[in-house]
Amino acid sequence: MPIPVLTIDGPSGAGKGTISRLVARKLGWNYLDSGSIYRSVAIAVQNASIELNDINAIVDVAQAMALEFNCGDELIVRLNGSDITSQLGLESTGGVASVVAAYSEVRAVLLKKQQDFRRLPGLVADGRDMGTVVFPDAEFKVYLTASAETRAERRYKQLIEKEIDANIVEITSEIEARDRRDMERETAPLTMAVDALYIDSSNMKIEQVVEEVLNLIR
Ligand code: DC
Repeated sequence: MPIPVLTIDGPSGAGKGTISRLVARKLGWNYLDSGSIYRSVAIAVQNASIELNDINAIVDVAQAMALEFNCGDELIVRLNGSDITSQLGLESTGGVASVVAAYSEVRAVLLKKQQDFRRLPGLVADGRDMGTVVFPDAEFKVYLTASAETRAERRYKQLIEKEIDANIVEITSEIEARDRRDMERETAPLTMAVDALYIDSSNMKIEQVVEEVLNLIR
């Protein structure tokens, strides 16, 4: 019996992290936040002052990085021994992550690191290509989205709650730029798997989305 996987793909700010964490907790399954792996590469690249067009250096850094995930109630991530959790959520980190994620060589290096999260009793995997590339054989697939406006508002609230300075106009244009990059890149672009359940959460409460996802598994 293959280890069950639920993939939740979708654009930035669609609520994938919140929903995936809640569903994983309800099911007692493991959780993979694949975006945080791309974000870790972004931080490693920034720490080493590597230019974003230097593909070879970026691939080397991605290959060499030692990542430790502590997926308790709060995600804690260590990169080569240092706690990088507070840097992970920054908009600038997400922007650089989206740039390095467009390189097929970087994606190839990260593929196995992500597949290694598939452990019993099951896995909830959130990202852009979980159902299309990383776990194409997943039994359960969801494509979670929301309007760009709703996503920008949610992101804004999240940042303000974390006491990170934020500007709604800048966030909207960053989200639109990130959508374009993630959807238009050649390798593993964000697209809905043919066998995924489509959920537009623009006018839904978190609990409703969680219920709909759990219904798919029940
Ligand atoms: O989900 P996130 O915002 O943490 O992801 C940050 C960036 O990483 C996103 O803009 C594109 C990239 N990413 C990706 O290309 N594939 C994934 N499975 C997850 C994230």
